[in-house]
Amino acid sequence: MGDIPVVFETVPRYRLAFLPTPLHPMRNLGRTLGLDELWIKRDDMTGPSFGGNKTRKLEFVIGDAREHDCDTLVTVGAVQSNHCRQTAAAAAAAGMRSVLLLAGKEPEDYTGNLLLDKLYGAELKFFPDENFMSLNEKLGVVVSTLEELGLKPYAIPAGAATPIGSLAYAAAMEELKVQLEKADLTPQHIIVATSTGGTLAGLIAGARSAGIDANILGIDVYDSAESAVSRVQQLVERMIREFPSLVPRFTPEISITDRFTGNGYGLMDGADRKAIEMFAKLEGILLDPVYTGKAGAGLIEMALSGEIAADSPTLFWHTGGTPALFAYSGELTRDVQ
Ligand SMILES: Cc1ncc(COP(=O)(O)O)c(C=O)c1O
Repeated sequence: MGDIPVVFETVPRYRLAFLPTPLHPMRNLGRTLGLDELWIKRDDMTGPSFGGNKTRKLEFVIGDAREHDCDTLVTVGAVQSNHCRQTAAAAAAAGMRSVLLLAGKEPEDYTGNLLLDKLYGAELKFFPDENFMSLNEKLGVVVSTLEELGLKPYAIPAGAATPIGSLAYAAAMEELKVQLEKADLTPQHIIVATSTGGTLAGLIAGARSAGIDANILGIDVYDSAESAVSRVQQLVERMIREFPSLVPRFTPEISITDRFTGNGYGLMDGADRKAIEMFAKLEGILLDPVYTGKAGAGLIEMALSGEIAADSPTLFWHTGGTPALFAYSGELTRDVQ
């Protein structure tokens, strides 16, 4: 536990993650992109279940669920949701049940995250005509039904984008601060994929408390930068209101771009595929086709265009998602014309 700062200890937390996640340079990719200092924070290694950003959030969410004596986690996501897969794994580890509401048709073959959901024993319900954020509205009915069956459900909205879930990423900034001091690194840019906004909201709030003065740029993978900024803004405001002793009152500067959303949520394009291939071939690091592939595409484009200056130390925050690669094997192996 040596490198884990003792902060946020007043909040109930169920330990799941392998922390601190590594922080290391990407020298080959940095050289290729013309960046003097390019580093990566490996939240694809939070574990359990192939890691990803939701493990940190679930530590706080399950802590809260246990405080309320709940025995079943209910959440929503896309069919290939990383959040749902990590919730199912975390529930299994914590001795709880999981119920997943999945937006999309049930496929004939279970692969990637969906296969893992099944292995973790999650109960799955498919909603072919919904998108994953709108499934939040169904949580109330499912919770009531489970209560009638004598269970004690705990509802987790899409991406665990709640003040308590986001707090996990404020705590992650304290972890990063210790690592930056050791590495004698002062990143000017931190690049991270964003959709429901909880990760970015936590990072922005945590940077403020930890005194990390970097430009934190969210690469939106879901809809528009405008909606993404509004989601993050609301989460930061709620964190300040609900956890005044942990999150200082401040006016956040929220920087999000939707220039790399490409064909849209879950739709991989040429830039995403190129990013996946560059990280894999130059660093032996896997990105995912839905989130970090787009964030990687953003990093590559901004570095090659000079938008990120060669001498600006840059940190890419990997948020996981790699099991989804297996659901995109056709697109990832097809010859590009
Ligand atoms: C791999 C990955 N990266 C990034 C994100 C975005 O995180 P957030 O929902 O906190 O914005 C997600 C969300 O599901 C994800 O699975």
